[in-house]
Amino acid sequence: MDGTSCDFEYSIQLAPLMRRSLPKMRVFDSQRIQPFVPYCRYSRRIQGSDNQREYPHIGGMYVDWSGYLCGLTLMHPCVFNVQSVLDNGSSVAALRRFNSLLAGLPADSWEDKLAPVMNELAYNLESFNPAFTAVLLRVQSTIGKTDYVCRDNALKNLIQPLAGEYGMHNGEPQAKTHRELFSLFYADLMKQPLETVLSKNPEPRFSKILFDQMMRDLSAPEGIHGPVELASYALGYNLAIEYLADYEKTWMLDSFRELNARVLEPQGRPLSEWLFLEVHAEGEAEHAALGHAAVASMVPASHQGILLRAMQDHDRDFSAFYSEIANMLQ
Ligand SMILES: [Fe+2]
Repeated sequence: MDGTSCDFEYSIQLAPLMRRSLPKMRVFDSQRIQPFVPYCRYSRRIQGSDNQREYPHIGGMYVDWSGYLCGLTLMHPCVFNVQSVLDNGSSVAALRRFNSLLAGLPADSWEDKLAPVMNELAYNLESFNPAFTAVLLRVQSTIGKTDYVCRDNALKNLIQPLAGEYGMHNGEPQAKTHRELFSLFYADLMKQPLETVLSKNPEPRFSKILFDQMMRDLSAPEGIHGPVELASYALGYNLAIEYLADYEKTWMLDSFRELNARVLEPQGRPLSEWLFLEVHAEGEAEHAALGHAAVASMVPASHQGILLRAMQDHDRDFSAFYSEIANMLQ
């Protein structure tokens, strides 16, 4: 068992309860995705459970505090299997190229090349906030159509990265927002206020294209109908954003460290405001885990194809954006 397989025997090992409930069949296959366990919609009381007990995920079934099965959602290995298509996707290739160019910017022209890219990034990084909000709305809009506890659990996971954008973390006083942190980083790097560049060009071309596409996808993805399908799509889209952000921000921190040591420090203007890059490089893996948990909480196993489609849609649009801003660095 390699931990990524989604076959039925694995599901039996993880969730003995499913042995009684599911037929032995495989309903999905492709070159990229392993077969997965079919969805079986039911909700029933577990014998002998009591309302005080906390139940964990059992395979693909989320069991709530009151002892009800929420229905059969995608199992964790299946979600890992779907999200792993991003590891070899076009965004990762575009991010690799972008970061190689960023780390290797020439000492005599780095500032001119980087200025429009930073303009794009200022808009792009903020544009994920309305996308996250749209994802929340999609899930909230399944009220009465999805399980009360599963929906609530998905939302509990989704709200944390969004709240974090505004400096809010559980049990801690509100810190600087990520917009404030980016502004400090920008001013430190470019030696001018972020407001100056944003007042000249408040809607940079390529990040605006990506933002419009994200909002189009999250509001009316082609061929996806009904509140539950739309929520599954949105949850997959959100996971793709967070999963790719882990690559993006980790590599971005590494690239700026390299640029700083090779170019900025020798030019007498070393970076001192690292917090924006550091919190993202450290935090996106956790965000991806939260996005994964939100998917596993609520997306029916029969929606694996929708999940994959959402991830591929974001991969396509995100890679187009990074290809364009990589071109600016050449
Ligand atoms: Fe994130």
